[in-house]
Amino acid sequence: MPITRTTTALGPRPTLSAGLDRFRDDVLHGLSAARKAIPCKYLYDDRGSRLFDRICELDEYYLTRTELAILSRRAGEMAEAIGPDCELVELGSGSAVKTRLLLEQLHEPRAYIPVDISPDPLHRSAAELGAMFPALEIIPVCDDFTGAFDLPESGTPPASRRVVYFPGSTIGNFQPLAALRLLTSIARLVGPGGGLLIGFDLDKDESIVRPAYNDRLGISAAFNLNLLARINRELGADFDLGAFEHRASYLRRQERVELGLVSRIDQVVGVAGREFRFAPGELIHTEDSYKYTREHFARLTARAGFALEAEWTDEREYFCVQLLTVE
Ligand code: TRP
Repeated sequence: MPITRTTTALGPRPTLSAGLDRFRDDVLHGLSAARKAIPCKYLYDDRGSRLFDRICELDEYYLTRTELAILSRRAGEMAEAIGPDCELVELGSGSAVKTRLLLEQLHEPRAYIPVDISPDPLHRSAAELGAMFPALEIIPVCDDFTGAFDLPESGTPPASRRVVYFPGSTIGNFQPLAALRLLTSIARLVGPGGGLLIGFDLDKDESIVRPAYNDRLGISAAFNLNLLARINRELGADFDLGAFEHRASYLRRQERVELGLVSRIDQVVGVAGREFRFAPGELIHTEDSYKYTREHFARLTARAGFALEAEWTDEREYFCVQLLTVE
C-alpha cells in the first residue's frame, strides 16, 4: 500500500512572535545602515508570493518560462543523471510547478522534502503534489533555508542519495559570499555522492534583462512596494507607498540587477516607534539578482566542493540548469 505522509516536520520551530521580532530587528537594523537595505526574504509574504507568481508569468520575465522549457524538454535526462531512489529536498519551493515536471521523471524517488519560509504556499503545493504522487512521501518543512535548519528523517530503506533541487535562479539573490556559504552548507547537507540540481540566470544583453525587472504592467513595482505595505501592517510603520518608487538597474560589469525602492522626496517615516529620514533619490536596497557567466558559476560551485556532472540550457543560452555532485 502506498503511503502518503504530508506532515509538517516537528522540531525547534520559531513561534509567530519570534518571527515578528526577527522581522522588526532586521528592518530596524537595515534602515539604520548608511546604505539602507532590507533582506529580500521579506518580500515573500503571502501577497508577495502571489505577486511573484504573476511576475513569473509576465511576457518580459524570461527566467521562469525559459527554465520551465528546459525542464519540460530535459527532465528525463535530469532524472537519468540523478539516478533511482533519491531523496529530493527543494529549497524555496514556493508553488513548485517545476518540481512536478521533475518528479514525473524521477525513478522511484523515496521522499520529497520542500523547505519554504511561507507556510501557505508550502502546504498548498505539498497537498497538490501529494494528490499527484500518492506513493511519494512528502515532508514539508516550514523554515528559512538561509539559516541553519534540520531535515527530518525520511523512511527506510535509506535513499540512494540526497539531492537538493534549487531552481528559479534563487542562488542569484545571494551576495557572492552568502552564495558560497549557502552552497557549502548544501554540500554538507547532501554529503559525498549527494547532488545539487540548480537553475541560474546567465549573463546577457541589457535589452533582455532590463525589461524583465521593469515590466509594462507594473507588477515588479507592486511586488517591490509590497514590502513597505507589509512593514506598515506588521510593524506599525507609516510608509507612504506613493512617495517611493521601484528601481531596477542592471549593473552588468558586476553581473547583477540591483533592486530597490527610491524615495521620491525628502521625508521622515516612523517604523516600530523609531523615525528614519529619507533624502530625495535615496535607495532602500531590497534584492540583488546575479546573472552569472558560466566561468564565475563554475568557480563559485567548485569552491563549495561541487563538481559539474551535467548541464542543460536553452538555444539562446538565457538560463542554465546544472547537476553538481559532491566529490
Ligand atoms: N528572485 C527574483 C529575481 O531575481 C526577484 C525579482 C524579480 C524581483 N522581479 C523583481 C525583486 C522585482 C524585486 C522587484 O528575478
